Amino acid sequence: MLTAAANELLTRVGPGTPMGELLRRYWQPIGGASELATHPIKPMRLMGEDLVLYRDKSGGFGLVDRHCAHRRADLLYGWVEASGIRCSYHGWLFDQTGACIEQPYEDTTSPKPSKAGCGIKAYPVRECAGLLWAYMGPLPAPELPIWEPFTWGNGFREIVLADVPCNWFQCQENSIDPVHFEWMHDNWGERMRGSDKTAPKHLKLKFEEFDHGFIYKRVREGQSEEDRYWTVGRVALWPNGFYLGRHFEWRVPVDDEHTLSVAWFFVRVPKGREPYVQNSVPAWKSPIQGEDGRWITSHVINQDITAWVGQGAIADRTRENLRSSDIGISMMRKRFFDELDAIKAGRDPKGVIRNPNTARCIDLPDMARELNVNGLTLAEFQNDPLLRQRLKEFRHHVGQPPEVRTAFCDAMGIPAH
Ligand code: FES
Ligand SMILES: [Fe+2]
Repeated sequence: MLTAAANELLTRVGPGTPMGELLRRYWQPIGGASELATHPIKPMRLMGEDLVLYRDKSGGFGLVDRHCAHRRADLLYGWVEASGIRCSYHGWLFDQTGACIEQPYEDTTSPKPSKAGCGIKAYPVRECAGLLWAYMGPLPAPELPIWEPFTWGNGFREIVLADVPCNWFQCQENSIDPVHFEWMHDNWGERMRGSDKTAPKHLKLKFEEFDHGFIYKRVREGQSEEDRYWTVGRVALWPNGFYLGRHFEWRVPVDDEHTLSVAWFFVRVPKGREPYVQNSVPAWKSPIQGEDGRWITSHVINQDITAWVGQGAIADRTRENLRSSDIGISMMRKRFFDELDAIKAGRDPKGVIRNPNTARCIDLPDMARELNVNGLTLAEFQNDPLLRQRLKEFRHHVGQPPEVRTAFCDAMGIPAH
């Protein structure tokens, strides 16, 4: 249980809030680069700020204030040029740093037009693994961490986004919550299929901290301490991610009561299908609500989202009752409080990387590394329960577009159906 003040500290992310300042010290994934291929300007709200993300005609990305510095027109309705974005109201042009580089009427009529003070807010954007990453904190920006899975070849990758109407922190607490798998995904899944089968119980949990987050380990009925779920475990990636061995999830704050869920998936093509080169990583939006107004519960991450939004717009942690299954959650909260203090003391918080050599390829505990790197034959795919399921359907998020399914099946060498 937390005090109301502590709950506020953990959850509020707008400009000037302590947690907002902490999260701005990290590169955040904000979407897929391929999303901008058809519409080069995309509206974004991040950390309580209204912005536009764009790709200009030279292929450079920008993330700038949604409103023009002249008289505040909406840059979503501007257009991109060789370098930068132009406002459609009176034609002011801004570059990726937010500097105003053209004011057409003044440039035509004034001998020495001054653009001082006419810039807009702008944040650096980088592309990596098909994702676009933004850094909204104080400069100089730290290194963008290249997680090892981003360096893997011969894989089919896809990015799935979802707009989640609740605070980011309750989403992130789900990253360090092993027992929910047994109930939310296994037992509830059985009930929804009309079965009263009971999933293997959790018998033992362990939580450990490392440089880039926390690892949780578990033993369930039918498993032992030899199992990779115990010897390797899964990663609650600091500060707002989750790594499960074949995919990442991030919970990116939009504002105090909204979160952008960003997930990145990798499936190694079967042996014999190499070399496989994916020129563009598809990115698509998963719906979370059905026509009947209920949350969609058919897919794994949709089930998680149902739990997150069910906790309220901002979960009231003054009314919870943590138990031993929640030790990881307490560890993570304490780490956030300590890192808020680190920032106050002027230090870089946990996990910020300044050394480019360190950032180039960062290993994470990974239960499936060999499979992801070395691959399996298509026949061996069928012996791996998760991969076998993956070949049949995409069960993480509802709404995979048929063309993404087709591209996946082509990559894997299986018929699309
Ligand atoms: S409002 Fe943008 S150029 Fe005038
Ligand atoms: Fe889950």
